[in-house]
Amino acid sequence: MCGIVGCVGRDDAQDVIIKGLKSLEYRGYDSAGIAMHNGDYINRTRAKGKLMNLEQKLAKDPLIGKNGIGHTRWATHGPPSEKNAHPHSIGGVSIVHNGIIENYLELRDQLKSMGLDIYSDTDSELIAHLVNIEVKKTGELASAVKNVIPQLEGAFAVLVLSEKHPDEMIAFTNGPPLLVGFAEESFIIASDLLAIMPYTNKVTYLSEGEIIYINKTNYKFFNNDLKEIQKNIETVDWSDELVEKSGYSHFMLKEIFEQPRSMAKSLEPYIDVDNHSITMPELEKHADFFKSVEQVYIIACGTSFYSGMVGEYLIEKIAGVSCKVDIASEFRYREPKLIKNSLVILISQSGETADTLAALRLAKEQGVKTMTLCNVQHSSMDRESDIQTYMNAGVEIGVASTKAFICSLSVLNVFSGFLAKVKGNFEKSEEEKLVKALLATPSHMESVLTYDKFFADAAERLKSYKGFLYMGRGVHFPIALEGALKLKELAYMHAEGYAAGEMKHGPLALIDEQMAVVMLAPQDDLYEKTISNLETAKARGGQVISIGTIQDKKLKELSINFLSLPEVDWNINPFLAVIPLQLLSFHVANALGHDVDQPRNLAKSVTVE
Ligand code: G6P
Repeated sequence: MCGIVGCVGRDDAQDVIIKGLKSLEYRGYDSAGIAMHNGDYINRTRAKGKLMNLEQKLAKDPLIGKNGIGHTRWATHGPPSEKNAHPHSIGGVSIVHNGIIENYLELRDQLKSMGLDIYSDTDSELIAHLVNIEVKKTGELASAVKNVIPQLEGAFAVLVLSEKHPDEMIAFTNGPPLLVGFAEESFIIASDLLAIMPYTNKVTYLSEGEIIYINKTNYKFFNNDLKEIQKNIETVDWSDELVEKSGYSHFMLKEIFEQPRSMAKSLEPYIDVDNHSITMPELEKHADFFKSVEQVYIIACGTSFYSGMVGEYLIEKIAGVSCKVDIASEFRYREPKLIKNSLVILISQSGETADTLAALRLAKEQGVKTMTLCNVQHSSMDRESDIQTYMNAGVEIGVASTKAFICSLSVLNVFSGFLAKVKGNFEKSEEEKLVKALLATPSHMESVLTYDKFFADAAERLKSYKGFLYMGRGVHFPIALEGALKLKELAYMHAEGYAAGEMKHGPLALIDEQMAVVMLAPQDDLYEKTISNLETAKARGGQVISIGTIQDKKLKELSINFLSLPEVDWNINPFLAVIPLQLLSFHVANALGHDVDQPRNLAKSVTVE
């Protein structure tokens, strides 16, 4: 993970880098640092903890210069500390690194045997040593980097500053995202568009094995062999992507409240509102393939995995096609045997999650068509897949995913309809029903958001439970899992999601008066069964908070709190049921005094295994 930013040729370089790091803090936030070339020397400031600590140091003692590099860290090798914070500076060379150097132990031994001192516990410092050795040998930054890259194994995106080369900067990647923004007579290089957006919309994404070398106002792209290559500069449209809290206390709360609008936007490209029909032109190009698909695999991590689990129900019930869902980190190592005529769908907000990306590559190796459902366009997965679909959720900053989840659900609904249609399994009336139901969903979501006040008031009580069990059946089982994940991520409380029918096989033993049981029981075809599960939990003293369909007297009687949802079709229920669970986690975590937008030990984009 980690976020890196470089700036070349600007008087306000320090501010550009710090502002950029702020927007990348979601990638890691356990320490941060910056190094600036003042024309003669490189000066560096680093601080443990949030970026604010670095800012405080810089406010007292700013760094001067037009060229600099910065880093916000998510620790992999070595605990969070100032000595392990980037940039790492050795001799006249300073670097920032995002990724993991897998052969770091060998490199460390090699450098030590040369009599060199290693100052940190990180793998990244070794890159600075290697570049420094090569700069001394070759006298040139670009040649130095060319000689270093083959020595590194693993995933790395690196920015390099050299004291002897005051006008130059070099950046290279072997996997992790890296893009260059072309502003007026200056350049900003970063892990994410967010750091570049305020200055320019002209960008180039570096692909694996590519280098950019900048010298004052000139730049060149190279491959790893230092052969010059040509790359296009793209103009990115981000008019929607205003990254502000807009009056909300937290990004997460803002993103929860944005969900009705995001859901509507996610549908826009895929629905013909006038005809109430599904239109997926990019997918229609592969109509013959989709017609022949016999098996769908959905692969993802975290919250995206849970949206995939909902997708399994949608694809099987709506399209009538067999679907299997896998956690990417399991899939990639279990030697999966993918059948011919299958489609692998990779779901990822960031499009960069290392395990999901590896799963995509594995599926391609097996000759199976891959389709991505990403939020970040131009991300690695988006670029590498055969067919692309998008969540269209806009920028999501809160580490715990909310609106991207909702938008995945909406695209999975549309895709299930599309698949049903190409396979001839969908009557026009069914298509219209699905489309109308989806179009009506945002306004139902608005009404569920009014539970914000309930959870804000109830948080003090809820935070005193020893744990939470989330139960649901059918399409609500993944929602129960997502609810439990959110509470773990944000409130650091014990929470489990269970298929309600499994309660008697273990979780019942956990239930007593100290245990909150969140029961998802909308009136669908599993309702009666869910009610029996609820009675069982209540009889054991469980403190039941139920979420069900409007005016359900039975559910109300059985629960200490009953939250009602509008009556909708089974496939729409998850959009509504997840909202109270997001609000619950947000308010409990807030009441416990936790940093909701940046929970401890986590990061939004997990680009390491
Ligand atoms: C991290 C984030 C989660 C996210 C998961 C998968 O764990 O904290 O919010 O669901 O990664 O991320 P992806 O970008 O692949 O959806």
